[in-house]
Amino acid sequence: MKKMIVSVLFSTLCFAPWMAGAGDKPIDPAAGKNLYGTYCFMCHDRGLGHAPRPGEKGDWAKLLPLGEDTLFTSVIDGPSHMYSKGISPIWSEWELKSMISYLTSTVTDAETQQQIGAASAADKERHLRLVHGRKLYGQACFKCHDYGDLGAPKLGSPESWAGRKDKGIDALVKTVIDGKGHMYAHGGSNSLSEQEFKLMTEYMLSTLEKGWVAPQKDCK
Ligand code: HEC
Ligand code: HEC
Repeated sequence: MKKMIVSVLFSTLCFAPWMAGAGDKPIDPAAGKNLYGTYCFMCHDRGLGHAPRPGEKGDWAKLLPLGEDTLFTSVIDGPSHMYSKGISPIWSEWELKSMISYLTSTVTDAETQQQIGAASAADKERHLRLVHGRKLYGQACFKCHDYGDLGAPKLGSPESWAGRKDKGIDALVKTVIDGKGHMYAHGGSNSLSEQEFKLMTEYMLSTLEKGWVAPQKDCK
């Protein structure tokens, strides 16, 4: 009997927090603020590599409409954060979401409240495709395309894409897969899929849009 009570007590102690489930725990911006102060602040307080700064509405103008769920996926999947680099996450989903909620709360007021999550589903999906494409690009294609080496069309340079861009994305992806000139077949990355080449090419084309700012190299 005693043994049973001990084991019931033990399992209650061990599993109670788990049974509560991270998903059930309400997102908590106040806890997020403390967690933010242990790690994220290093880049975000200073805006290193264009990291959006707390309290700076301008930095968040394009991000608030994406909503916190999209931002969460972006942090997990995008190029600038360690979780996205194959290192197992050091924060739980609840912790990350609470930190993101803290960050957005610093720029939320009567004026910006309406904007949170207001972007269309298509725009949210595009944002996530571009962050993923940029991450892959940063692993496989940047060596030639960041600076236009060997005649490669350069990132963010409409002139060097003249005559290429209008072919449409499918034709461009086909060139990458087949190889051309100084670009090996598959851009030299044989393990990637056609869908991944498409994401990278979509990202490259997006850098030709007005207002694009080159990411800082030291903050990849
Ligand atoms: C090594 C520097 C660095 C650290 C540390 C860092 N970030 Fe970032 N973060 C960036 C940069 C740079 C960007 C700018 C956008 C980009 O490059 O993707 C960014 C963008 C973001 C965004 C916007 C994502 C988007 O879709 O544009 C969120 C949200 C974010 N960070 C949250 C966090 C949180 C939460 C932490 C702590 C767990 C954190 N960051 C730690 C560098 C950092
Ligand atoms: C070794 C350097 C090098 C690497 C690595 C490289 N490229 Fe290229 N890329 C080039 C060069 C050079 C061209 C121009 C080829 C030509 O038109 O003669 C080019 C052209 C392109 C084009 C335009 C194709 C067209 O139809 O005009 C795209 C899109 C492209 N590359 C995407 C990629 C992607 C995606 C990757 C990464 C998987 C990649 N490249 C990796 C050198 C490179």
